[in-house]
Amino acid sequence: MKKEFKVTPWEVKGEVDYERLIKEFGVSKISEKLLEKIKKHTGELNPMLKRGLFFAHRDLNWILDEYEKGNKFFLYTGRGPSGKVHIGHLIPWIFTKWLQDKFNVELYFQFTDDEKYLFSNKSYKEIQKIMEDNMLDVIALGFNPKKTYFLIDTKHAGLIYKQATRVARKITFSMVKSSFGFKDSNNIGSIFYTSVQAVPAFLPSVLKKKNIPCLIPHAIDQDPHFRLTRDILPKLGYYKPASIQCSFIPPLTGIKGKMSSSGNKETVIYTTDSQKEVERKIKKYAFSGGQSTITEHREKGGNPDIDVSFQYLKIFFEPDNKKLEKIERKYRSGELLTSELKEILIEKINTFLKKHQQEREKAKNKIDKFIFKD
Ligand code: TYM
Repeated sequence: MKKEFKVTPWEVKGEVDYERLIKEFGVSKISEKLLEKIKKHTGELNPMLKRGLFFAHRDLNWILDEYEKGNKFFLYTGRGPSGKVHIGHLIPWIFTKWLQDKFNVELYFQFTDDEKYLFSNKSYKEIQKIMEDNMLDVIALGFNPKKTYFLIDTKHAGLIYKQATRVARKITFSMVKSSFGFKDSNNIGSIFYTSVQAVPAFLPSVLKKKNIPCLIPHAIDQDPHFRLTRDILPKLGYYKPASIQCSFIPPLTGIKGKMSSSGNKETVIYTTDSQKEVERKIKKYAFSGGQSTITEHREKGGNPDIDVSFQYLKIFFEPDNKKLEKIERKYRSGELLTSELKEILIEKINTFLKKHQQEREKAKNKIDKFIFKD
């Protein structure tokens, strides 16, 4: 029997089966041939592509074809400021930065404060505070300030609202019900919301008065929004946005879910966690593919495929293939213990976070430079 799971922009439940999601969402798997095509332009492949974390796309071939013809795309991604940023959120953003650097393109970054107001019971005041704090995480990653524009839904409402209504007029209630599973009890703002998330995919085309291709990097949970966006934009005379999608960084407790603050916060690593907190959480919660006793582990070895610490190294924290292979070999053979593997990960995450936290501090007086000026 197929195991049940659920992936929507607001909820991920159960053990996610990515192969099934590809079919159900109708996205395409990233093929070797497509990787070669990307490499032709980037010179090297980001480990997140090579190791399959970014695994699916829509129309990426077309984006590259247009690029080859001199028709440059812009990037679009975003954040719903609902709380502290965790290392899962950083993944699509770090990848977006890599794309921005390699293709030298503009990025529109949407902060959906309206979304988080409509889908939670937080006040606007709280959300504004969270949003400002989240901006530090984005800026800390080193996006090019000359080519990166923050769009804030409520602040830029004058610009966004008119375009959102153009999208909304083409979307029926029954379309959003079937895309998102909304019920009659959902508030009416949440029903409208997807038309707001569609806007940055064509806003630059409106502003520059010419059609510009758009590429959206994101984790697969956001795909339902862009499936709808892709249906609507050609009806308004714009290109369908292309997308490139990653799987989820799992919570510390197991590799099949999504790291998310709406679950147990102890199993999430926040960008502002102290070195001690990171160490404590990993030691206490990181699911281990090791054996229950040292003797047994030495004899039978560990299983890196289900080991969260190993998977985190693979996803991002150990980009060096040779080093990663060595860790894998030693873990499988039993030479490396779970506690030692955890130490490797703790040191990697803490080194990354130390620099990230310093950059977050420096970002405090840079916010204004990034906010889109209309
Ligand atoms: P939000 O704030 O929930 O998430 C921001 C980005 O992080 C991705 N993400 C993850 N990626 C890997 N592992 C995880 N555990 C994980 N958790 C979240 C999300 O897919 C997203 O890419 N509505 C959006 C904000 C938004 C947006 C966009 C996102 C507006 N426009 C365009 C992507 C592209 C939201 O609430 O994302």
